[in-house]
Amino acid sequence: MGLNGLIRVPSDKSITHRALLLGAVAHGQTTVYDPLLGEDCRSTLEAIRRLGAQVDEQAERLVITGSPSLTSAELDCGNSGTTMRLLTGLLAGYDGTFTLTGDASLSKRPMRRVTAPLRAMGADLAGDVAPLHIRGRALTGIDYTLPVASAQVKSAILLAGLRADSPTIVREPVLSRDHTERMLPLFNGQIDITSEEGVRTIRLSPSVLEGATVAVPADPSSAAFWWAGAALVPDSRVTTTDVCLNETRIGFLRTLERMGAHVDVTNVRALGEESVGDVTVSTSTLHGIRLDGTAIPHQIDELPLFALVASQASSPSSVRDAGELRVKETDRIQTVASELKALGVDLRETDDGFDVYPSRLHGGHVSSHGDHRLAMMLQIADLLTTEHVTIDDVEAADVSYPRFRDDLQRLGREIE
Ligand code: S3P
Repeated sequence: MGLNGLIRVPSDKSITHRALLLGAVAHGQTTVYDPLLGEDCRSTLEAIRRLGAQVDEQAERLVITGSPSLTSAELDCGNSGTTMRLLTGLLAGYDGTFTLTGDASLSKRPMRRVTAPLRAMGADLAGDVAPLHIRGRALTGIDYTLPVASAQVKSAILLAGLRADSPTIVREPVLSRDHTERMLPLFNGQIDITSEEGVRTIRLSPSVLEGATVAVPADPSSAAFWWAGAALVPDSRVTTTDVCLNETRIGFLRTLERMGAHVDVTNVRALGEESVGDVTVSTSTLHGIRLDGTAIPHQIDELPLFALVASQASSPSSVRDAGELRVKETDRIQTVASELKALGVDLRETDDGFDVYPSRLHGGHVSSHGDHRLAMMLQIADLLTTEHVTIDDVEAADVSYPRFRDDLQRLGREIE
């Protein structure tokens, strides 16, 4: 049974987080159309409410009334690294004391990558893993070159820079997702971007934000599961509509094309500061490839799915320069290896990636380990064998894609 149909996957997680956070501190009203209300973004939504922003949840939109001063609070960031890292930057320059906590997974993730540059700006932060304690105080701008390609670190510094007493410069040797830089000018953030000899330089002047309107496109990291499923499952053809086509986000779509997949992108248009379009993928014969270097950040969240796709290609594949996978919601090199091996995939771990060989999948008992991207990748794996696959903690998908199982049924059912 193939996957067939047209689907608008839930809205983009990264863009929703940013719209909520900027709206929370902007003067006046911000309207966010089609926000993602999965668990991670709910953590951000609840946090901004506690900080004093008013959020009116209407059908298909949120209306946020920003708060010029913030209320001291303890904020539970749940499973969301983006919530914790961006809030740390945002709050560091506000009067008040703030404690950020997270679940067991988030409490193990490295926060020094944000606390170190923020301390260099003068921030008073205790803790390099959650819980983080922030005592807001006056900040000074810095000139910082990112040691890892991380949009969360970049964004934390820029958000702190909004309230610094001098300009902040962030230099990016490897481009990570750029939604914060795109969105800030909509909110009156004073930002200037140049590129020279492969290094991108973002200059932000201290800014008073004004409310804005943001329409959130569909999340390419969620659509990716259907692109992979359509490419791999015989007799499939799936169109995902309104997908964010920001090049810093669609590395996996480019990867599928390089592997030989039938990909068609239509109806490309602008949506605010982002570009969106409809992406159709149909059953394809794929060959293996190597992913490394600057291609990695543009598909970092899709690499667990790539491991599965690569196992169904006609030749071996490899991933390198992806050590960041080890500090995601789980150690994704380890968890992808253990779970896919349990289903028959010949996958060998390296320090910063893995090699995958063409494999025949079989049934088995696996777990998401509480990681949403694994929960969904394993459900796509289940489509590739007639044997029984049992997945523990499949609900972890709710973090970014609450209706995943419904959509899976919908795409499967339409051809019956
Ligand atoms: C995100 C950035 C990425 C990504 C995460 C969301 C963001 O993390 O993996 O899912 O919204 O900024 P890093 O910045 O740590 O690479």
